[in-house]
Amino acid sequence: MTPPAIDMSSTTTTTTTEDKPKNVGFRVGLGDITPNNLGQLKRLNTVLFPVVYAPGFYKDVLEVGEFAKIIYFNDVCVGAVCCRKEPAAGSATEQNLYIATLGVLAPYRRLGLGSEMLKHILEQTNLPVAAGQAKIVKVYLHVQSNNEEALEFYKKHGFEVAEKCENYYSQFEVSDAFKLEKIIN
Ligand SMILES: CC(C)(COP(=O)(O)OP(=O)(O)OC[C@H]1O[C@@H](n2cnc3c(N)ncnc32)[C@H](O)[C@@H]1OP(=O)(O)O)[C@@H](O)C(=O)NCCC(=O)NCCS
Repeated sequence: MTPPAIDMSSTTTTTTTEDKPKNVGFRVGLGDITPNNLGQLKRLNTVLFPVVYAPGFYKDVLEVGEFAKIIYFNDVCVGAVCCRKEPAAGSATEQNLYIATLGVLAPYRRLGLGSEMLKHILEQTNLPVAAGQAKIVKVYLHVQSNNEEALEFYKKHGFEVAEKCENYYSQFEVSDAFKLEKIIN
């Protein structure tokens, strides 16, 4: 199944996954986010998250390079991750990475796709930095306190609860969040 509306021209990584038991025989690939597929990212985020992201969010996504990706499953766009870099307090040589959104459409979950995206992001944080650029020393995010699947997902990938943030999502009935973080060595 290859829907013609999907622009695959920006796909940067395509992995056959014969060695992965859960998605044997399927094509999984990460693609860049470009002005051509930004609309798809917006639609994904609308379905996946209760938060409405402002235009500035999507402008920043286009500038964060490898820290924002779409994931394709058999050429269908089924998930995305968007991060932003933030200065680390009190350091000019270090920075943090905030995962603003990471999601996979429900029918495509538990196939390792979320892990593919997170693995890619974590790999990027471990690449050598160019002279004058700050190194990423921590990756962190917030998860609604009742989001068991996301909590399990991030814990499986070595994230730890750093803090409970009461009323972090003040607009939602379940307003508390956990701040999860992973220190990068
Ligand atoms: C969290 C999310 C991204 C996980 O994506 P995914 O593609 O299903 O994750 P994976 O298949 O890579 O799962 C990896 C591991 O995470 C854990 N995990 C994932 N979903 C889980 C669930 N529903 N229950 C328990 N553990 C779960 C498991 O340990 C799993 O390994 P296993 O399948 O071998 O047991 C997905 O559930 C999602 O999009 N949720 C909605 C959006 C969201 O809440 N995002 C997080 C906030 S940014």
